Amino acid sequence: MNILIIGSGAREHAMALKVAQSSLTDKLFMVPGNPGTSQIAENINISINDFYSVSDFCLKNNVEMIIPGPEGVLAKGIFDFFNSNKSLSHIKVIGPSEKGALLESSKDFAKKFMIRHNIPTAKYNTFSIENIEEAFKFLETLKSPFVLKADGLAAGKGVLIIDDLQEAKISLHQMLSGKFGDAGNIVVIEEFLSGIEMSVFVLSDGKNYVILPNAKDYKRIGEGDEGLNTGGMGAVSPVPFADNTFMSKIENQIIIPTIKGLSEENIEYIGFIFIGIMNVGGNPYVIEYNVRMGDPETEVVFPRINSDVVQLFADTAKGNLKNSKIDISEKTAVTIMLVSEGYPEEYQTKKDIFISEEIKDSLIFHAGTTIENDKLLTNGGRVIAVTSFGENIQEALNISYKNIEKINFSGKYFRKDIGFDLM
Ligand code: AMP
Ligand code: GLY
Repeated sequence: MNILIIGSGAREHAMALKVAQSSLTDKLFMVPGNPGTSQIAENINISINDFYSVSDFCLKNNVEMIIPGPEGVLAKGIFDFFNSNKSLSHIKVIGPSEKGALLESSKDFAKKFMIRHNIPTAKYNTFSIENIEEAFKFLETLKSPFVLKADGLAAGKGVLIIDDLQEAKISLHQMLSGKFGDAGNIVVIEEFLSGIEMSVFVLSDGKNYVILPNAKDYKRIGEGDEGLNTGGMGAVSPVPFADNTFMSKIENQIIIPTIKGLSEENIEYIGFIFIGIMNVGGNPYVIEYNVRMGDPETEVVFPRINSDVVQLFADTAKGNLKNSKIDISEKTAVTIMLVSEGYPEEYQTKKDIFISEEIKDSLIFHAGTTIENDKLLTNGGRVIAVTSFGENIQEALNISYKNIEKINFSGKYFRKDIGFDLM
């Protein structure tokens, strides 16, 4: 089968590696891909939001399956675009309908969905500029810190956690006055949950599901989880505290009601569900839903899947996951992101990347790289993810740290404490 993956990051590179390894894959295309994926697939230069051009390409090249990486195309309805058009509906999109994508693209929708289906989550209320006075009163009933969330997609920047009540009120007013554009027209204010976070990934065919390896990501730029939020500085899989007891609470209290809820509400959902979980004293609460895989979690989750992922996706598209078993490596995987100095604020690009010797015992996933005049250059804040396996976190980290020495570019920065809170 010919397959097309949408996206250009290390997440999509990690997916591409597993898809390329499947005996069911004839040709793998990436839209647009990156220099890493060009080694294992054919990169196609089409805008990911131009569904007409994507579908033309698929028809001309006998593509039968599309795997969207980022949420944007799902929120724009790529599933519905293909599924509702007779001449395209044989091309299976592994992702939710536009309605299903609301779980990520509207925090208010996600919260209401959780309340309807009795899924544990932080207490909340939703406000717009019309009822800002009520919002101030609601804030006064909560304990610090205050959690403010722009309703819409805000590229991971729509959540503010503020200690001071007065500051929270000012920020709320700014959000409702357009600081986050339309994404902030509605703001969810919720109770702060204190605990340790993890990411759970589920593949659903609409009725049945398989649980993929779990992971924990490290979002802050600085060691000890200090400093600004980034797109992710590293990840570990599996999460040691997510033992059978905790995972079965997640399955029974969150995964099963989520999939049943989607099905009961006739929301078509054939794809990944990424559930951000807070472990509050041994009980799981949903912090957020995403309708895609996580980044950098995918760079540790996919390498641990021993099963043929294309078979899993084909079973997903056919509604046949009930009989699917997933074989997951017992090993621990870690990934460390090499980033450009200055990121997530200003940073320079187009720095030469030197790889001093062939790296055999780690997987190298490209995030922000480009090729110009046959030279590999940096082309983003996050540049390359280095994933390694081990019997435990430390063993895997040691391999990544050793191989990071072989990859150099001016301004290379990475965290040296990934997994610090799990060991
Ligand atoms: P989100 O975009 O919803 O994932 O929120 C971004 C980050 O804010 C999460 O990864 C959490 O670290 C934090 N966060 C969100 N909601 C809460 C909450 N209710 N309590 C504590 N931390 C939260
Ligand atoms: N690592 C978090 C995310 O992908 O949203």
